[in-house]
Amino acid sequence: MSSAILKRTGQKMPLVGFGLWKVTRSTCADTVYNAIKAGYRLFDGAGDYGNEKEAGEGVRRALKDGLVKRNELCNHHLWNTYHAREHVKKLAKLQLDLWGIEQFDLFLIHFPVSLEYVDPNHRYPPEWFGDDGKVHLGKIPMQETWQAMEELVDEGIAKNIGLSNCQGSIILDVMRYARYEPQVLQIEHHPYLTQQPLVDLAKLLNIALTAYSSFGSQSYLELGFKKDVTNLLEHNVVTSIAQARKKTVAQVLLRWATQRGIAVIPKTNNEGRLVENLQCDTFDLSESEIKKISDLNNGLRFNNPFEIDPRLAIFA
Ligand SMILES: NC(=O)c1ccc[n+]([C@@H]2O[C@H](COP(=O)([O-])OP(=O)(O)OC[C@H]3O[C@@H](n4cnc5c(N)ncnc54)[C@H](OP(=O)(O)O)[C@@H]3O)[C@@H](O)[C@H]2O)c1
Repeated sequence: MSSAILKRTGQKMPLVGFGLWKVTRSTCADTVYNAIKAGYRLFDGAGDYGNEKEAGEGVRRALKDGLVKRNELCNHHLWNTYHAREHVKKLAKLQLDLWGIEQFDLFLIHFPVSLEYVDPNHRYPPEWFGDDGKVHLGKIPMQETWQAMEELVDEGIAKNIGLSNCQGSIILDVMRYARYEPQVLQIEHHPYLTQQPLVDLAKLLNIALTAYSSFGSQSYLELGFKKDVTNLLEHNVVTSIAQARKKTVAQVLLRWATQRGIAVIPKTNNEGRLVENLQCDTFDLSESEIKKISDLNNGLRFNNPFEIDPRLAIFA
């Protein structure tokens, strides 16, 4: 499978991985096991997804059954909200324990948002809220958080570190003080939100890119969010290309990203779609097909913490 090479460590990052958000907890261990069996080597999890322990069980079972060796797997993890130096390490170790592994291949700052600490013994995952159901902002600057992330590398807790949901000004700021520059940037990216200037900046800085919500966030559409938007999986520009290529619409959307060097991490609870998504890089789109899909860009963002609390307008 094609992969991106991470600059500092030379580690290979598969261009097609598996996302764990909304992977059903009760079946998560089986889903991860089946994904490994099907050939997935990269998993993208997060504290907030509430299925770390189960995902780790799936990995351990696959290792035990000899489906894969640990060094062939790429474990990516997003940790969210507690940006103070002491909390970065505490939460990273807790998450490693839940997964039952010794090191994250990649550890990302989930959002450039610092929230007041909630002890995991009290409530985990805490999501965005205090006990009163409200958002409580923390006051930790990004520099402290990034330096704590670098300590994770020094101590072998994470091999690579990176950012998610950050725009140019934060990335450039981190580059000014980084001992270890961000290796990966994970962003919402699909034909409605191509973010070309951000993609170009990341490429210029040698930061590998991972796209999330490659289908235009089906999860948000299922929640009744942005009802007036044409579902990308049904958009005639993409469906006509899929028909002509005898591929599925999902495969065309994924290939549109990977052919431009951007990794994808589709999530599915369905065994057939799991294989279908992995096979998305068995064909090439033409330049004009890529352009037609890119021309659907209209700046539509589904995942925006602003919707949770206007003080979290990180994309303003
Ligand atoms: N950094 C961040 O802030 C952030 C935010 C969001 C997501 N993520 C990561 O990115 C991953 C993917 O993002 P996502 O979950 O928003 O969206 P996604 O993977 O683009 O879409 C998932 C949805 O598409 C459906 N689906 C999957 N494969 C399909 C196929 N071949 N044909 C038709 N439908 C298909 C799934 O339903 P079924 O399960 O029924 O197949 C699910 O409803 C997440 O799991 C998570 O790891 C990161």
